[in-house]
Amino acid sequence: MRLHALRLWQFRNYARAELAPSPRVNILLGANAQGKTNLLEAIYYLSALRPLRPVREADLIQWGATEMRLYAQYEIDGLLDDLQMRLPL
Ligand SMILES: Nc1ncnc2c1ncn2[C@@H]1O[C@H](COP(=O)(O)OP(=O)(O)OP(=O)(O)O)[C@@H](O)[C@H]1O
Ligand SMILES: [Mg+2]
Repeated sequence: MRLHALRLWQFRNYARAELAPSPRVNILLGANAQGKTNLLEAIYYLSALRPLRPVREADLIQWGATEMRLYAQYEIDGLLDDLQMRLPL
């Protein structure tokens, strides 16, 4: 599978973020608590449709917000598809 695009909206510490990963190696560089693990968690959540760690789903929503959305465009076996998730359902 190749991830072409990722968008986060009110997910954990990301108010709004867009990522267009390289088809090769991607390096997440940042100080502690900048959101590196949260970004991986978003990708995991979209892949597995369940949280990476045992959390309440409400913990995934940015503090002070009432909903979150994740969007990914990905390619499997040459087929392009996309997926959107929102909480609360
Ligand atoms: N629901 C939430 N709303 C807003 N911020 C959140 C939420 N959940 C976690 N955070 C914040 O996300 C940050 C932690 O992000 P993360 O664990 O992804 O950092 P990291 O870059 O992986 O850090 P490290 O290098 O220490 O592993 C903390 O500042 C935490 O307060
Ligand atoms: Mg981390």
